[in-house]
Amino acid sequence: MNIGIIGLGSMGLNLAKNIISKKYKVYAYEENSVTNSDLKKNKVKDLFLTTSLKELLIKVISPRIIMLSLPAEKVDAVINELINFLEPEDIVADLGNSLYLKSIERDTLLNSHKINFLGVGVSGGPRGAKNGPAIMVGGSKEAWNKTKHIFEDISAKNDNQSACCFFGSAGSGHFVKLVHNGIEYALMEGIAEVSNILNKVYNLNNDEIAKKFKDILKTNSSSFLLKITSEIMNAKNDNDQYFLDEVDPVIGQNGTGVWAIKAALDLGVGIPSIYEAVSARSNSKNFKYNFEQNFNNKKYNPNDKCNEISIEKIIFFNFACSIYQGLNLINESNKWNFFDFKIEDIFKAWSAGCILQGRYLDLILKEFIIRKKIDPQFLYDLIKTNCPDQLKSIREFNSSAINMGITCPVLSSNLAYYDQMFSNHKIGEIIQLQRSFFGLHPIKDKEGKNNITPYWTKL
Ligand code: 6PG
Repeated sequence: MNIGIIGLGSMGLNLAKNIISKKYKVYAYEENSVTNSDLKKNKVKDLFLTTSLKELLIKVISPRIIMLSLPAEKVDAVINELINFLEPEDIVADLGNSLYLKSIERDTLLNSHKINFLGVGVSGGPRGAKNGPAIMVGGSKEAWNKTKHIFEDISAKNDNQSACCFFGSAGSGHFVKLVHNGIEYALMEGIAEVSNILNKVYNLNNDEIAKKFKDILKTNSSSFLLKITSEIMNAKNDNDQYFLDEVDPVIGQNGTGVWAIKAALDLGVGIPSIYEAVSARSNSKNFKYNFEQNFNNKKYNPNDKCNEISIEKIIFFNFACSIYQGLNLINESNKWNFFDFKIEDIFKAWSAGCILQGRYLDLILKEFIIRKKIDPQFLYDLIKTNCPDQLKSIREFNSSAINMGITCPVLSSNLAYYDQMFSNHKIGEIIQLQRSFFGLHPIKDKEGKNNITPYWTKL
């Protein structure tokens, strides 16, 4: 296949460099004149720039793969223009963060012109794009067979195995990517909450927190996100001031987390820690209010209390609960007749290059290989194997924060999610009876067989 790339922003340009480094010839088009003149000044060896879409399609002769690395809102317009120039059997691959439903729509449109489509989730940011990202693909099987070698060549490797996977029908690659991003939000918020509690409750300073996180990197709970946070914690600017004390707390988001929540709502799947993380981002515009509060200000002594608590296990517990929620969402999406995910493939795609990568995933995979399915028993066994006797200190860690008015929505929701499934309670029963009382909704006995008709159902 001959390769053309449209969009040379930070992702597109670095993907182009990566593809070129694997000895493919790449033509590219970028509509932004500032980026273009920059590229003319700082030439990239073997990257052939064209001045219009038409010229790109003259230079890249059929059979061709045209890769799009564009902001989500530009993809449709470019595809509509491309249709005029493409030939049957050409392939359009959308490498941006697109909504999976849009990928399904685009696949139908392009197929009606006999053009093949691939929706490709790419993770790892611009650095990953250049050195090897994780790649999640859905769309035409025929197109995948023709281009597999390109995606496998450029993707990150884990023990020589490519972190690159074809998941099936159109939309599946972008669906896995949006769940990846939802989990990414939950893990980021979880680490930030742990760090904040270590500081505000346990009195650890930035260097001490960085050290705690660095120590975890030596264990099986290590992860890319923890690694970058261990660096961020005590990084300073040129004035010897912590970036942490300088940066605006309002959190950005590109919408992929919201898409994950919408999909979960449509499927009737609970993903509370992902929801809390997205919600924290939306609420972060209010983070600047600093009202005086009169909480119990008694802090723990870091030297005794904190050392008793295994931060590694707290991190692992939270990662495991959030990952489980995401995997469960992917698993449940198989209810839709257009998806057919195999969970092993998700671990393969996330094994290297992506934001979720880390050794903690190997522990989760190990347990999945034993259980072979995503169900509550799998989560229960996973925590039992990897955090034996740790639940007490995980609870204590969360309570210590709540007692002092320190916010920890993701840590709390992970624990609440776990307890919802594995502790003894009668919440479902009460709500069913409430429904029956005021709405006369039919309710069943514990076995789900016989109807129960309490006295209030007789009007
Ligand atoms: C990845 C990331 C990436 C994400 C950006 C911005 O896997 O490489 O998920 O695709 O889109 O980092 O995300 P937010 O702006 O939503 O934080």
